[in-house]
Amino acid sequence: MSLDKNLPEKLSIITSKAAISTFSHIGKRDKISADKAAVDTMRNELNKLNIDGKIVIGEGELDEAPMLYIGEKVGNIGPSLDIAVDPVEGTNFVANNLPGSLSVIAVAEKGNLFNAPETYMEKIAVNHEIPNDAIDLDYSIEKNLSNLSDIKNVNISDLTVCLLDRPRHNKIVDELKRLKANIKFITDGDIAGALYVTNKKYNVDMYFGIGGGPEGVLAACALDSYNCYFQGRFLFKKPQDKNRAKKMGIVNLYKKYEINEIVKGESIFCATGITDGDLVNGVKLKDNMFITQTLVTQKNISNNIIINKLPST
Ligand code: FBP
Repeated sequence: MSLDKNLPEKLSIITSKAAISTFSHIGKRDKISADKAAVDTMRNELNKLNIDGKIVIGEGELDEAPMLYIGEKVGNIGPSLDIAVDPVEGTNFVANNLPGSLSVIAVAEKGNLFNAPETYMEKIAVNHEIPNDAIDLDYSIEKNLSNLSDIKNVNISDLTVCLLDRPRHNKIVDELKRLKANIKFITDGDIAGALYVTNKKYNVDMYFGIGGGPEGVLAACALDSYNCYFQGRFLFKKPQDKNRAKKMGIVNLYKKYEINEIVKGESIFCATGITDGDLVNGVKLKDNMFITQTLVTQKNISNNIIINKLPST
């Protein structure tokens, strides 16, 4: 079975509508309301699709998220799909009218998308020109960067590593400074951070550090289409997180996952800009029409930007 050829466009309209629903919340300093608007819209729109969909990455577990929770069924009758959603990636960006917020969905056939618990993940991503064994979460930063510099035939001081600006990364930052590597800090939004490795124009050689697990799975779906390398390892700190993970079927809690274990077969990733960002522009309102840009990736098919124009009323 292959995915419906109209699904990328349909999904781009769903992420566009979710992005548009946050438009009136941009800069209002209320990330909860912005997120709620996008969640409501995305859920309504997913329920209109002729699919038998199951949320595998969502707003959390049923006890903490009434909508788009992990395990929720969406859609009508149709092909069975696993769905990962992040209705607003970068809620702070929307609340504070800062660049880089996205509305994101990824789908794959049933059983082909990783069912991830709501927890943190260690992540590393590099472009496809890097042989797989050159990069590993268990190597030291120096070894990863030295391997990368050898392969790229540059000095470590020519390499740029992107990471979230968080105190938990202080030791990594000290090491990067010692090695004289360049740092690109992001304050939020590590799906985009990981996707910077896909194209030289973003000037990022490696994405590294700890961010959200769901964001790691979503980023891996897109990186799959660019044939990039990604490795992720969940971090389970609280006993209840470990129990949830075990219930979801994760046997080895410390396993390093590569893309082919996170997403299999055909998949579609859509990310619509809410505010302007490096990957896509944000929602624009012109002549009573909302104009959106959505990055749509499909392995072995295409990676492109779809522009949607939707009436504002
Ligand atoms: P939200 O949009 O849910 O606020 O997430 C933004 C984000 O920056 C993610 O991109 C990232 O994976 C995660 O938060 C990092 O979490 P934390 O802010 O706790 O370090």
